Parts: sequence; C-alpha cells; structure tokens
Amino acid sequence: MMKFGSSLLIPVAKRLEGKVAVITGGASGIGESSARLFVQHGAKVVIADIQDDLSYSLCESIGNKEAISYVHCDVSRDSDIQNVVETAVDKYGKLDIMFSNAGITGNTDPTILSTDQENMKKVFEVNVYGAFSCAKHAARVMIPAKKGSIIFTSSVASATYGDASHAYSASKHAVVGLAKNLCVELGKYGVRVNCISPFGTATPMMRKTMGMTEDREVEEFVCKIANLKEAVMEAEDTAQAALYLGSDESKYVSGINLVIDGGYSISNVALGEAMKKRFST
Ligand SMILES: NC(=O)c1ccc[n+]([C@@H]2O[C@H](COP(=O)([O-])OP(=O)(O)OC[C@H]3O[C@@H](n4cnc5c(N)ncnc54)[C@H](O)[C@@H]3O)[C@@H](O)[C@H]2O)c1
Repeated sequence: MMKFGSSLLIPVAKRLEGKVAVITGGASGIGESSARLFVQHGAKVVIADIQDDLSYSLCESIGNKEAISYVHCDVSRDSDIQNVVETAVDKYGKLDIMFSNAGITGNTDPTILSTDQENMKKVFEVNVYGAFSCAKHAARVMIPAKKGSIIFTSSVASATYGDASHAYSASKHAVVGLAKNLCVELGKYGVRVNCISPFGTATPMMRKTMGMTEDREVEEFVCKIANLKEAVMEAEDTAQAALYLGSDESKYVSGINLVIDGGYSISNVALGEAMKKRFST
C-alpha cells in the first residue's frame, strides 16, 4: 500500500521561500507534519499550541532556530492569538500564512441526548472562535500588506456524515462557512481564504477518539472504510494541501473546501450494498 514518509520526499524547489507562517495546533499530528514541511520548503514558522514540552522538542528536532519557534497560545483566548501574530511580525516583519489548524473533538458520543451545552461551548471555543480569532488577527496584518493566505482545518465531517458528535460536526461546518464569508470580504485586499477537510488520519487525537494505541490500528480501520484503496491517509497528505494553499502555486484559489478523503464523501456504500442484495436474490 502506498505510504509517503516526509524523509522520502525530496523537494524539487522551496515552495515557501521567504514566507512567514503561524500554525496553530502545530505541536502534534497534522500541525506538526505541516510545520516540518513548511520549514523544509523555506518558510519561517511560529508554532502556536498549548503543549509546551512537545512544541519545544519539535523545534529542537527540526533544529533550525532561525526558521522555527514556539509561542504558548490557547486559541480559545483571543489575546493569545493576537500575541502569536505580533510575535511573528516582530520577529520576521510580516505574516504570509495563517494556518488555523488546532482543534478538539470534545465529548465524542454522537447522540443529541448526551450532548450538553458545556461540551458544545468548549468545542466551539476552540474550533470556531479560535479560527475566527486567527482570521481576525491575521487580517489586521494581511489587509495592509494586500496579500496573505488564511487556511483552516475543517474535516470530512463538513462534507458527509461521519459518526462525529453534533458539536464537532457543527463546528467544522461553521469553519467552512467562516472561510467562505472571509473569502468574499478579504478578496478585495488580495487575501485568500480556504479550508482543508481531511479524512481519518492516525494522529494523537484520532488514536484517543478511537481508543487505539498504535497508528497502525487507526490506519487499518480507516483503510477498511475508505473509498480509495491502495493508499493510506497520512498527516502529511493534509500538510501537502496546506503547503499548496500557502504557496503562490494557489495564487488564484480562494473560498474552497479542499476535501482530502479519496472520494469517501461522494460514495454511497449503503445504496451499493442494497442494490447488490436486491439483485442477488
Ligand atoms: N486526525 C484526523 O483524523 C482529523 C480528521 C479531520 C480533521 N482533523 C482536524 O485536524 C486538526 C488537527 O488535528 P490532529 O488530528 O492533528 O490532532 P492532534 O491532537 O494531533 O493535534 C491537535 C493539536 O491542537 C492543539 N490544541 C488543542 N487545543 C488547543 C488550544 N485550545 N489552543 C492551541 N492548541 C490547541 C493540541 O495541543 C495538538 O497539538 C484538528 O482541527 C482536527 O479537528 C483531524
């Protein structure tokens, strides 16, 4: 089955040379993979996260102190995001890419009767208000610069039913709506706004949600339900999409929700199964 480790990919060109990026949730999973890829492609990256030790050890392991740094930032606090953006601008003089990626699942029980207001609020505070604050503080810098790329991590749950909780699913739809609205408002300033919606990916969040300890277990499960066979969905697949949307290669792309799910969200397994049953009798 096809798997790409970042070490196997030799970049032909540095696609983010000279660009400055903030990545929220950059300590782990998709954010970590994106931070590594962005630095590989010449970007200066500021990771914004709440996991201090993990973030510092990621910076150490990347090893290029000029290119990567960490700022503690709880995305549900508007002032924390303001601080990250100001830090990036103080350090590097500008902000080209805001990758608003941090997210939580909250209570994963998918039933309405088990969903309380507190859980709903907590999920929205991180997934939606966090994305909103990222966009707001990025826009303050990008509007006068007349350029910039704002990218949100939504989810395949914004494109199809995924047995996710109502809070998670609603929050990820909200992010897509926010991106579309912002795309229109910020278009006149040359600022692009897009979403990426990944399929199930073996990250700490997904392992915890699935009650699995190994990435391999998550990947096996995801491969079983996947539409596209002979390939494994990895964090780097989303990082590659963020690289594209952050780079000038996507200079005319704005307002899209780039669903990375191997066609899962347009497949209808139930119909196929029902037809097979009907015609086999
Ligand atoms: N893994 C998947 O299958 C999958 C699928 C679709 C969408 N997503 C989305 O991808 C994004 C990244 O998730 P991941 O799978 O890499 O998970 P992850 O848990 O590996 O990474 C999430 C990161 O966000 C950080 N974070 C959480 N709350 C935060 C807060 N309040 N402030 C700042 N940082 C915070 C965590 O510390 C962590 O480093 C999330 O938005 C998630 O909803 C993941």
